Amino acid sequence: MALAVRPLSYALGAEVLDVDLSRPLTESRFGEIYRAFLDHGILLLRGQKISREQHIEFSRRFGELDRHDSLPRDRHPEYPELLMVSNLPQPDGAPSNSRYTGQLWHSDLSFTLMPSLGSLLRGVEVPPVGGDTMFANMYLAYDALSAGMKGLIADLHGVHSPERKNAGMSPEWEKENRLLNPPVAQPVVRVHPETGRKALYIGEKVKAFEGMTDEESVPLIDYLIRHSTRPQFLYRHQWRPDDIVIWDNRCTMHVALGDYDPTLRRHMERTTVMGTPSGHVASDAVAH
Ligand code: SIN
Repeated sequence: MALAVRPLSYALGAEVLDVDLSRPLTESRFGEIYRAFLDHGILLLRGQKISREQHIEFSRRFGELDRHDSLPRDRHPEYPELLMVSNLPQPDGAPSNSRYTGQLWHSDLSFTLMPSLGSLLRGVEVPPVGGDTMFANMYLAYDALSAGMKGLIADLHGVHSPERKNAGMSPEWEKENRLLNPPVAQPVVRVHPETGRKALYIGEKVKAFEGMTDEESVPLIDYLIRHSTRPQFLYRHQWRPDDIVIWDNRCTMHVALGDYDPTLRRHMERTTVMGTPSGHVASDAVAH
């Protein structure tokens, strides 16, 4: 029987039905899942009662997994392939480092020279209401631009910083983050290596265009983000426990909305599939 999928929104996303990741998955079934991933940009699998090992093992079928060396404070101490996105306090009672992770529009690891192919986020504990994640289809966003704007941005590179919003980072942590992750320039228009389609590659971690001042860059960055996040390009995911959401970082961007009561528990675990090399360390030529 062919893989059963149900679209989640007009713009992107599909729910995969009748797949149980706690059981063996044949190569041909995985091939259909991968095809659906390329076609829909986001896949949702509900009710997946799986262990950390099974999460990692399934994720490996998409490609080699990142060990989160660029974000060492957020990875699981025993499973470096798992990035914690959690508001649960640390063992010593200190607030979690990752409670604000993802609260800027972004594509995972865009601030590195090996941006991610895709991510698989497991909702372990989710609040009863809110804590949603929103996704944008960056193919549609690119396609909808005028020919003039496509020409204007064709050769631009955005300088991506590892900055986080509201992170409550200590000065030492900020320094460590900057040293580990010097600003990287990425093309604003990327060609998806598997589908061959062009997608906008922008987000709130882009601070300027390479070779341009902040003042010159910011209005266009703001416009491109506003354009990409128009409602018709979006899917908003409302989490249930044991959901797995898989997204293609090469043609989508996402944001954790933080729209929930912070006294309630939200604990997510993410694997990050490595992509192909992209971008270069930003030149000092960026004028300020
Ligand atoms: C992420 O950006 O990987 C986390 C998204 C979320 O927690 O909703």
